[in-house]
Amino acid sequence: MNEAGERHDRLRVDLGARGYDILVGEDLVATAGRHLAGLLAQPRAVVVTDGNVAAHWLEPLGRTLAGAGIAHDAVVLEAGERSKDYAHLERLLDRLLDLRVERRTSLVALGGGVVGDLAGFAAAIALRGLDLVQVPTSLLAQVDSSVGGKTGINTRHGKNLIGAFHQPRLVLADVGTLDTLPPRELRAGYAEVVKYALIGDAPFFSWLAANGRDLLAGDRRKRRHAVLVCCRAKATIVGADEREAGPRALLNLGHTFGHALESLTGYGDALLHGEAVAIGLALAFAFSARLGLCADEDADRVRRHLEAAGLPSSPAGLPGGRRSPDEVLSRMEQDKKVVGGEPTLILARGIGQAFVARGVERRKLRAFLADALSG
Ligand code: GLY
Repeated sequence: MNEAGERHDRLRVDLGARGYDILVGEDLVATAGRHLAGLLAQPRAVVVTDGNVAAHWLEPLGRTLAGAGIAHDAVVLEAGERSKDYAHLERLLDRLLDLRVERRTSLVALGGGVVGDLAGFAAAIALRGLDLVQVPTSLLAQVDSSVGGKTGINTRHGKNLIGAFHQPRLVLADVGTLDTLPPRELRAGYAEVVKYALIGDAPFFSWLAANGRDLLAGDRRKRRHAVLVCCRAKATIVGADEREAGPRALLNLGHTFGHALESLTGYGDALLHGEAVAIGLALAFAFSARLGLCADEDADRVRRHLEAAGLPSSPAGLPGGRRSPDEVLSRMEQDKKVVGGEPTLILARGIGQAFVARGVERRKLRAFLADALSG
């Protein structure tokens, strides 16, 4: 319950006509029909999910949609980051057309970041745009990927390089779904939670230092608090800079390093997205300390916190053998934030003081990577 005794809190992403609410709380999957009934353009939806999530949450979602008079079909994808590719996108689009979706039919993305990004991209392009509702069931999706309208797929060139901005009509973040999340996935999502603290909220980092263990162990009240803090931060940033012309780039803290590592390890179980982000956060702080921008002590605190949460913090022992600094640099240079061939990095002046660093000297970055990769 929140202070008013309600089972969920409501936040607004303020984007004018494309604005929407985020509900954070409990029982939101089982009561989704109530929240969707007045919102959908027609009482028809296609639920896109994956096999793991479907086993726990498709039935209660189907029941509440039926109870609200919303006709629905389900498309169940294979679980895992490898589903976020051209082949799976094509299959999903074919399936939607087989189901004869109409312009006013909504897609409901029930799942983690992969389902949300893939279903979101399909919603952006099927019939030139269907309405989308995000029902994120992983910590990573609840605190980050379900909010803000980024959708897309990975290609052999890199992560999320093909995609579209397509804002959802509503986000339902039910923290009860985190109870069925595999512990490794939960830890991976925790890296994105830490990211928000590191970007601009030092008191939240202190809160995580005191409460992160309980959150990971299953404390719903603390999970709800953390999801709410992150969604509030994200709603503010997205409301100010939807298309990432400015401050939204801060949300990529840890991601330029992380995406390069994910791409080198093949987007599989070897290194989950959140694990790559954890290494990226530690690297962003270590590099900031190396450049004299932030105190060594802050970089150490970040690394120790990630390690205490059971997350990796170094690229030295990456699955598949040691990578060279040039391999990592070359992947970093295919990032979406490259300007004139130079990567834009998100660096920090301390915990809670991230900033966008342009024109980082390649020579210094390469030397840093060489040390980091050799452990
Ligand atoms: N995940 C980063 C963003 O939404 O901008």
